[in-house]
Amino acid sequence: MKITINPDSLSFDLKAVIAEKTPLLNKALKNITEQSENPNEWLGWTNLAHNESIFQDIQEKAQELQAKHNFQDLAVIGIGGSALGPQALSQALLHPLWNSLPPEKRNNKPRLHFFDNVDPDWNAAILSELDPRKTLFCVITKSGGTAETISVFLKALELLKGTVGEEHYKQHLVMITDPEKGPLRAFAREHGILSFAVPPHVGGRFSVFTPVGLFPLAMVGISPLELRKGLLEAASWLKTDKLDENPAVQLACALHHADRELGCNINPLFIYSSKLARIADWYVQLVAESLGKNAQTGPTPLKAVGATDQHSQLQLFAEGPKNKILFFLKVLNFDQAFALPKEPVAGFEDLAGESLLRLIHAEGEGTAMALTQVGVPNLCIELERVNPANVAALLYLFQLMTALAGALYGIDAFNQPGVELSKKLTYALLGKTGFEKYLTPTLNV
Ligand code: PA5
Repeated sequence: MKITINPDSLSFDLKAVIAEKTPLLNKALKNITEQSENPNEWLGWTNLAHNESIFQDIQEKAQELQAKHNFQDLAVIGIGGSALGPQALSQALLHPLWNSLPPEKRNNKPRLHFFDNVDPDWNAAILSELDPRKTLFCVITKSGGTAETISVFLKALELLKGTVGEEHYKQHLVMITDPEKGPLRAFAREHGILSFAVPPHVGGRFSVFTPVGLFPLAMVGISPLELRKGLLEAASWLKTDKLDENPAVQLACALHHADRELGCNINPLFIYSSKLARIADWYVQLVAESLGKNAQTGPTPLKAVGATDQHSQLQLFAEGPKNKILFFLKVLNFDQAFALPKEPVAGFEDLAGESLLRLIHAEGEGTAMALTQVGVPNLCIELERVNPANVAALLYLFQLMTALAGALYGIDAFNQPGVELSKKLTYALLGKTGFEKYLTPTLNV
């Protein structure tokens, strides 16, 4: 396996914790495996890789579309679980300056933009730079009615109709939504727009390996089939043998034990890689929305990027309240060592002949050692190298960790009732009929 957990810096005996929780963990893993196809459970994400034809189909459709239209830009419109997955994967796997590269250096694949917020200036600025005649708009919303997504979609639709016209606008749209339900599905059906389905029993933040993540990635040349390889390997973590060597079990138990027994309920994911940095945003949503369920339950996930945040958050982690468990993420092999000049420069001799590779590893290890010495529990997730299969396995690992942690906490990790009131109040503030009652604070909604 290309991902291992090094728990040596934890301040407790993780094996003993896992041994104590074994009956519960076995039950949870058995349930996840046996119920993965049950339409009433939210476990469809566990075995998406088994359906190879979906991965193949998306790859072919994306290739066909690009060959036919030679899109210059791909504009993904989505939010939350309908944006963070493809954002994390594309930052991990594309050239950091992808959108600035000339087409030949992008293999004639489109530039990639995400519309994941309703900041009017930001949306107006990006939209005004896109040429609708050469842009594919990919609208992603599982429910099909999320206000933030639909509002930007409506603007894109207006723009398309006004430029390429009623006759051609459909060729510039792809919709990824529920296979049956919701207003976007109805729209796609009525107007005959190319669409892909998010399986009903896969929740938004667990949907990165459905068309939600696969289609945008395929459009920019990252093969869904390569991602699938990592998922197939990761499926071994669903087995119930050798629990104390199972990374998903190790992470879930470390998170839960640190919270419940040590009062460490803040969980920075400290990623020593710029390419993987966006994974922390995806992780924050996954953990926050899945595990934050009542006044007693909900570790607070934080994003930290090494070495950058050593100059920002580390002071707090080291000397602030002892209420944190850190997960370091270390990439063992980078493609480049980035050797520094061998010839010493006066005043900077210490760095002569060094490399950024040695530096980033030393920074991560040094930081972990420093935190251990001051009694901050931490562990290290070691990723062999950044490639599609390994990154897919990493995301799957965090999903399985979250599901197992949900079982340890005894909560439903797959719903998010706490976000509903804010949506209703937003509509109330917009003056929509039927929502006025939510403005009365005494109402129990
Ligand atoms: O995990 C979830 O279900 C949410 O975070 C959703 O992804 C988010 O609210 C967006 O929803 P939708 O895809 O329906 O637009």
